[in-house]
Amino acid sequence: MTQVIRTAAELRDKVAAWKRSGMLVGVVPTMGALHDGHLSLARAAREQSDRVIVTVFVNPMQFNNASDLDKYPRDEAKDLALLEAEGVDVLFAPGVDEVYPDGFATTVSIKGITEPLEGAFRPGHFDGVATVCSKLFGMTQAGRAFFGEKDWQQLQVVQRLVRDLNIPTRIIGCPTIREEDGLAMSSRNVRLTEAEREVAPRLHEIMQLAAAEIRDGVSAQIALTNAEAALLEAGFREIEYLELRTVDGLRPAEDLSEPARMLVALWLGDVRLIDNIAV
Ligand code: PAF
Repeated sequence: MTQVIRTAAELRDKVAAWKRSGMLVGVVPTMGALHDGHLSLARAAREQSDRVIVTVFVNPMQFNNASDLDKYPRDEAKDLALLEAEGVDVLFAPGVDEVYPDGFATTVSIKGITEPLEGAFRPGHFDGVATVCSKLFGMTQAGRAFFGEKDWQQLQVVQRLVRDLNIPTRIIGCPTIREEDGLAMSSRNVRLTEAEREVAPRLHEIMQLAAAEIRDGVSAQIALTNAEAALLEAGFREIEYLELRTVDGLRPAEDLSEPARMLVALWLGDVRLIDNIAV
């Protein structure tokens, strides 16, 4: 049975009891609308911890667009059923007032790694992520936290956060889970129309082609320019970024002299998609 907990006080008592019995607590922070990607994180947490908490909180502080926040899919009953099936111990689903009570005045802001890519297009987004993750790590007291590589920059940001603030939570990155046709799983995918859903897998395909070209010695600039043209041709719009960056520190990369990742954010109809792959 997955227990639903809504207050930090009740969660603290639960976790304290587990810890008195020497248990290692794992947490999977999410914003709900759970899919197989989230469930793979819950499974990793199950394997690597004694007790598992999945948090579901649509964090208003990380949305820089009110309509994106309004349209964010929510279905707690379905999430709970999925977590029950995975043997998750606690679904922590606090309300906004529980996380940001009256008078809340703290922002956790990280320099450098938060500035390019998502940070450039979603001002304030990573302040919201870093602040809520600091709170969730504090509220859950988890020894391990599981994050998907799909949000590669977020994973780096959270790793920086726990290092910089000596938060005793180890961050574990887990591989992106994809649909059979290659589309990276995301809660936002349900908002794609049927026609858009057919176009969506072209993103991963075109990225893979560009990655193969770069590995074959084509300059990153040329491969990415060709990929952008192919994406627009396929029906995507407004490519916010399509870049090659170093794995370590997300610095711009011209070639593969250091391990690199290709990262993208673009729009398909009204839905913003992000993805990244190792090159
Ligand atoms: O990746 C997400 O779903 C969110 O950014 C997170 C980590 C749950 C923080 O709100």
